Amino acid sequence: MATMLWMLFSAALTPTSGVTAGTGVFEPWLQELWKQPTAQALDLRVAKGLGAKGYGKVRISVVAPQLMELSDFNFTYKQQFRYRWTQNFLHSALVDVKPGKNTFTIAGQSVQVDLPAENQGIRAVFWSDPCFSSKWISCAYAEKFQTFPRSVAMLNAVYKDPSMDMFAILGDNFYDQTGELAKTIFDQLSPDVKRRFLLVVNGNHDNWVCGGPGCGDVSDNFGIGQMQYYTADPIASRSGNGDFLDFSIDPDQRKAWKTFQNKGSNFLVYHKLGNIGFLGFSGAADFQDMKPYFEEACDYFVQTQPATVFPLGHWNGGGMGCQPGMSVPALRNELLSLTQCRALGNRLKYMDGHEHCNYVQANTTEPVGFMIGAHGMDDSCKAQYGFLYLDSSNGRVKLYYFEVASESADQYDQLIACVAKGGLSSCTKMAQLWLDVPVTSETETYVV
Ligand SMILES: *[C@@H]1O[C@H](CO)[C@@H](O)[C@H](O)[C@H]1NC(C)=O
Ligand SMILES: *[C@@H]1O[C@H](CO)[C@@H](O)[C@H](O)[C@H]1NC(C)=O
Repeated sequence: MATMLWMLFSAALTPTSGVTAGTGVFEPWLQELWKQPTAQALDLRVAKGLGAKGYGKVRISVVAPQLMELSDFNFTYKQQFRYRWTQNFLHSALVDVKPGKNTFTIAGQSVQVDLPAENQGIRAVFWSDPCFSSKWISCAYAEKFQTFPRSVAMLNAVYKDPSMDMFAILGDNFYDQTGELAKTIFDQLSPDVKRRFLLVVNGNHDNWVCGGPGCGDVSDNFGIGQMQYYTADPIASRSGNGDFLDFSIDPDQRKAWKTFQNKGSNFLVYHKLGNIGFLGFSGAADFQDMKPYFEEACDYFVQTQPATVFPLGHWNGGGMGCQPGMSVPALRNELLSLTQCRALGNRLKYMDGHEHCNYVQANTTEPVGFMIGAHGMDDSCKAQYGFLYLDSSNGRVKLYYFEVASESADQYDQLIACVAKGGLSSCTKMAQLWLDVPVTSETETYVV
């Protein structure tokens, strides 16, 4: 208990990432880019359905500048975005897919969704705190690392590889208040990126663009635009009223700008993909409110036995809108103290961001915590720009950290050439191996 209190206390003292205010203007290069015609491909989102609904459930969504009337695909939800980012329209449906290749036709375009069989290895890329514009918050290394063209080109190259399954961003998603920056980058992503499973986490700047509730105001997002734009299948999808998100908080009615004007149930997702479990959540939600869902998620994981379970959150420590017990390291401890979750033991790991550095953040008898927040922003560490690559195929769960560039080195050209030739899995010599554990560990069996 004393340990727990100390951890909560010290988490509250952890210095939070100092960021500087933005310029207030979009860069001239963005203005130029917006004059170019954009691709006509569907702005597709594919998300794994909530675990309890069954392994084969997948939510397919399309974001568009107007409502689409389609004869070839039945979206069950068709609405203009509510409250925020209302320049967009969302179309969404939960569908059944089978392991392997599933082909849909949506608006005349063929969409292939590949579901890895349950317990099969998967491959995924993780970013956190990505930035390319200094409109709202200063993106210190946008130019130094050419984050916009390079992040786009790297993703498009990586997802040409048919063995890639998933892409995740762990919050502070492009430091975007209005949805313009999200659209700018998503317009550049290839259909091969967008047909993969997407999981996007809510961070402090996604709620209050300035970085915390104290400076929140009427223009802020509270994750409302993001939860529609980066469509997932969260706990709120079970409400059964035809909506799959909970819109019961209208921020402009409530006007509590310096609070989290949203529901944690819009961000809490859990599921398996292949042999890995994922638990996405917003640290701005109240722990006690989310506790029943965490317990439910653990019951699901203990039953379905993924090789590793990754809570995916944003905050690495308290403050800046993070609720007690809801920083990612604190949540791991909270979970391990719950009867439903205890059996997960070291299989329960985590990834987070918020601090703009990339390093192995926590070890027990093996590495368990992974910080991946350096993707354009600066911090107390030296400049870093990189991403995590998860490969759980061939009987091992491996995490590779690719440092694309740093203060003193830049391997972007070699890396993208390598990826174009043989996919990320052929380039791991250019990465640091952060985790390498067997899929079935003899010392870490589930004890229920
Ligand atoms: C859409 O739903 C209607 C009514 O249930 C059905 O007749 C039609 O076949 C469905 N279309 C597709 C493409 O699934
Ligand atoms: C965890 O272990 C790795 C590998 O030995 C090491 O690089 C890292 O600094 C450790 N992290 C912490 C927080 O102890």
